[in-house]
Amino acid sequence: MEVYNEIAILQNRLSSLFSTGQQIGFVPTMGALHQGHLALVKEALAENDCVVCSIFVNPTQFDNAEDLLKYPRLEVQDLELLTEVGCQMVFMPSAQEMYPEGFKVEHYEFGSLQQVMEGASRPGHFDGVATVVRKLFDAVKPHRAYFGKKDYQQLLIIKAMVHQMQLPIEIVPCETFRETDGLAMSSRNLRLSANERTLAPVIYQILQEASTMAARWNTLQLKQWVQKQLDRYPSMELVYFEIANPEDLSLTLDASPSKNQMGFIVVKIGGVRLIDNILL
Ligand code: PAF
Repeated sequence: MEVYNEIAILQNRLSSLFSTGQQIGFVPTMGALHQGHLALVKEALAENDCVVCSIFVNPTQFDNAEDLLKYPRLEVQDLELLTEVGCQMVFMPSAQEMYPEGFKVEHYEFGSLQQVMEGASRPGHFDGVATVVRKLFDAVKPHRAYFGKKDYQQLLIIKAMVHQMQLPIEIVPCETFRETDGLAMSSRNLRLSANERTLAPVIYQILQEASTMAARWNTLQLKQWVQKQLDRYPSMELVYFEIANPEDLSLTLDASPSKNQMGFIVVKIGGVRLIDNILL
């Protein structure tokens, strides 16, 4: 597997692939790779001639300095895992390479997509995500890029950014990968203590139960029920539970949710912020 740290050298290498008409698949990550990331790489390998995976813990998308500091970094293990699945290239830039002096985070207008849930709860987060993903897209110029549905709002924001910038890149959404107990795979799971890890599957259990009750209850009742479930666990804090339209993320505030809407949840366990969603 080839490893690149500099944009110019990566681009030089990729230009020889472009000239022979090869299709490039791209999997952007922040490292601490798990089976969910590897599933994205495998899907990209099946649909492209060459797959580039990037590993970059992007400082501009963290609104909390401690979260950035504590984000797991496992580069040696990541490279081993990527080699095992057959990824051909890795791009691991330094912060200086991605953000040379004087560089400013771009501000995007994604309208309502960016005003709810993660957008409201983490100010500036999506500008940071869109900025880095656009820079990574500029560096790799992939034909297809792969994103997990666990970060569903991020997926829609990236689709909107690609549309706004008229980038010739197909965004491929991939299903959420779960541990056997249902917990959505996330690099942040590594930060949970053993005790917190045994509690964490409750998040998906609550989502599943809420989705079965959505046929009978209105959104307000569902929200109260979710809050009540989490109140039983003093170490877990509900950041939000929302019902939204999967196309534009318009929120259902009190009406009964309809069948094709989605439930979105964020829970903090001992300072670790975990996110998940479910189709109702
Ligand atoms: O989902 C992530 O890991 C990150 O938000 C991404 C898309 C790699 C941008 O830093």
